[in-house]
Amino acid sequence: MKYSELMNEAKEAKKMAYTPYSNFNVGAALLTNSGKVYRGCNVEVASYSGTNCAERTAIFKAVSEGEQDFKAIAITGDADGTYPCGICRQVIVEFGKDIDIIIEIGGELKVYTIDDLLPHSFTGADLEDLS
Ligand code: THU
Repeated sequence: MKYSELMNEAKEAKKMAYTPYSNFNVGAALLTNSGKVYRGCNVEVASYSGTNCAERTAIFKAVSEGEQDFKAIAITGDADGTYPCGICRQVIVEFGKDIDIIIEIGGELKVYTIDDLLPHSFTGADLEDLS
């Protein structure tokens, strides 16, 4: 699948955003290496910390369906160039450093790695290094 098509999936996902508090809508589309796409939107709740971002919605949907091998995630939000928040960056790196992160800025798609967006990350490998 072309990344422009994946971004279109993210735009469709954004239409489902539930944002009564911020009114800031975000959509994500996660492409697995097996070719499936999982969509996610942000879901807000009155106790704000319960809010789930679009990226994590997509990733948690995929993992809960047995998928852990991801190729790319496209993200679109009400800001031109909506980048994943810090928590979502941490969740993305949990599933590897080879996931392309697709962001649209000024109508152009940019492709980042998680090392671009979350350098010197803390991962499960650090927890194994207890010697
Ligand atoms: N949001 C996302 O869904 N993804 C991000 O990476 C940035 C922030 C959502 C959370 C909240 O519903 C709204 O945007 C404003 O922060």
